[in-house]
Amino acid sequence: MSKKPIILGIESSCDETAASIVTENEEGTPEILSNIVSSQVNIHKEYGGVVPELAARSHIEKIDWIVEKAINKSGVSLNEIDAVASTAGPGLVVCLSVGLSFGKALAMSMKKPFIAVNHLEGHALSPKLNSSINYPYLFFLISGGHSQYLCVKNLGTYKRLGTTIDDALGEAFDKTAKLLGVEFPGGPQIEVLADKGDSNRYELPKPILNKGGCNLSFAGLKTAVLKIAKELKTDQEKFDLAASFQKTINEILLKKTQNAMKEFEKIVKVEKKKLVTAGGVAANKRIRKTLIDLCKKENYECIFPPINLCGDNAAMIAMVGLEKFKLKEFNNLDYPVKPRWALDESAVFLKGAGVNLK
Ligand code: KG4
Ligand code: ZN
Repeated sequence: MSKKPIILGIESSCDETAASIVTENEEGTPEILSNIVSSQVNIHKEYGGVVPELAARSHIEKIDWIVEKAINKSGVSLNEIDAVASTAGPGLVVCLSVGLSFGKALAMSMKKPFIAVNHLEGHALSPKLNSSINYPYLFFLISGGHSQYLCVKNLGTYKRLGTTIDDALGEAFDKTAKLLGVEFPGGPQIEVLADKGDSNRYELPKPILNKGGCNLSFAGLKTAVLKIAKELKTDQEKFDLAASFQKTINEILLKKTQNAMKEFEKIVKVEKKKLVTAGGVAANKRIRKTLIDLCKKENYECIFPPINLCGDNAAMIAMVGLEKFKLKEFNNLDYPVKPRWALDESAVFLKGAGVNLK
């Protein structure tokens, strides 16, 4: 019986300091032995957003004991760990540097391989922690910094099908929440408020709904919410605006995901089509329902990570580390921080004024 790989994952790309130990069982199914996430929400709340310098300082203060806690909780000893995987990008340079340097130093001192991980690939593989998924699949990434449709052909081989040309979906949720007077990060609160509201009360725009394939745009929606929010007088109106916003988002995602499915089917011919949706916003129950219903209609298997693995965590980083370890895809200790590391590095930049969509 060969020893199963044991991987330490480290994540510090934004405002979560996280470490996790992941292995696999006899059947080759990944198994999380520990998953520690320390959020900095309380540090950034008063500023209404993440302050990079404060985030980096907090990572530095916590990284060693978060890693120690993950190792202790896993029941494995330090010398049983086979490789260290750290997020190298994308994210905030000052934050990424903390986990990347810590991971490299630990790997070097243990004389074990080091693996640099793309944070977005972590999200893409996060559902593999609780279900077996073969490549290829259609991946819908919806987080605070990114909103993209990608065809995942294999580990490390991505083709971007569509992206947001302005705000990320999580950003749209957070900004709307702020306009409704909810504390940062307000995204998750929108669905709580929306449950109490009438989603037909306000008509909101659906930018680029009928053009641009499966590219996305949310900035115009936010501007419309801003105008209405200024006039709100009662709590019920606030709930109605949250519900109308969430409904509009779902209508956009329904159409755009349908477009993405068509694009995906042009590239890969598979009998069992799969849609994997991950990233912080994939925790939203209404969005989950919309995508589940669409997948039923279009004959796709609809896959999400468990709710606790939708947001940033290190188990997903260790998961990528595990797959790369098995392929002996290791990195040198001079691997750079890559703040703008794209999954599909050949895809054109599609942001800002002047973007021409057909
Ligand atoms: O993946 P994530 O933890 O961090 C990034 O890599 O960006 O995503 C965080 C984003 C935030 O914008 C947060 O408001 C949003 O995910 N989010 C939600 C929900 N839970 C988290 N948005 C809508 N509904 C939710 N239930
Ligand atoms: Zn993330």
